[in-house]
Amino acid sequence: MAKILIATEKPFSKSAVEDIIKVVDATNHELVLLEKYTEKQQLLDAVADVDALIVRSDIVDAEVVNAANHLKIVVRAGAGYDNLDLEAMRNKHIVAMNTPGQNANSVAELVFGMLVFAVRNFFNGTSGTELKGKKLGLLAFGNVGRNVARIAKGFEMEVYAYDAFCPIADIEAAGVHAVGTREALFDTCDIVSLHIPATAETRGSINAQLLGRMKKGGILVNTARKEVIDEESLLQLMEERADLKYMTDIKPDADSLFAEKLAGRYFATPKKMGAQTAEANANAGIAAAKQIIGYIEKGITTFQLNK
Ligand code: 3PG
Repeated sequence: MAKILIATEKPFSKSAVEDIIKVVDATNHELVLLEKYTEKQQLLDAVADVDALIVRSDIVDAEVVNAANHLKIVVRAGAGYDNLDLEAMRNKHIVAMNTPGQNANSVAELVFGMLVFAVRNFFNGTSGTELKGKKLGLLAFGNVGRNVARIAKGFEMEVYAYDAFCPIADIEAAGVHAVGTREALFDTCDIVSLHIPATAETRGSINAQLLGRMKKGGILVNTARKEVIDEESLLQLMEERADLKYMTDIKPDADSLFAEKLAGRYFATPKKMGAQTAEANANAGIAAAKQIIGYIEKGITTFQLNK
């Protein structure tokens, strides 16, 4: 019997937790919950005797790993795993996994929530524009990018994508124009939506050189990670160009400066909301629980990140 801990500083919806409990209750494993914790020490105490851990954006660093005496597997219920110290887990023979795709629709829908808000001038009563006919650029064509493309077609937008790792034929097969460079994406599109992970290569990569290419009236949408933005360059450019808008689901470090200097052109969700739907919580949480059970009972390592 394994003890599985769900540790979520930002909890899953109540119904999603009930769904996850049902999955675990059908086995002989035990589920424990640590929700809305505020101190790292609470996480350190909670992991001490568990065999498996489910987290969201919660930081699982070497200190957490070393505080866990029996931990065998950590599953990030979600896509991005920049919060996991894979090396520390590898050193202790702990398997790390994510649940790719499970929350992608939820994030993609939020892109359009923020886009409609942007083109209708933050609902301030003035005439805005429509999304129909606009060119939408997707920086990366993974699970979220594909869902954004699908929904964009309903709005009759023209969709473009650049992805360094996805074959052009796959992008074109989805009815999306593949462009050869990030520069070409920024040159071509009225709106650019970011769907890249935060890695050593992508941190700060949305820089002055790219941002300066944004078309007149351009909108940048970020439902990915704050770290991919070169904040200083973005703020400087937006101060110089009153035509640009920035909509983000991840507050920049300089949130108050952005808010003060770019009123009516900058919006940040108070808390990261992309994956915050009952459906996405249930999909990702259930997948995480099933992956843990599959690994513990049968050694299944699909979606392992630290092979
Ligand atoms: C992800 O990487 O899956 C998304 O950014 C959602 O993250 P969250 O579970 O912390 O909301």
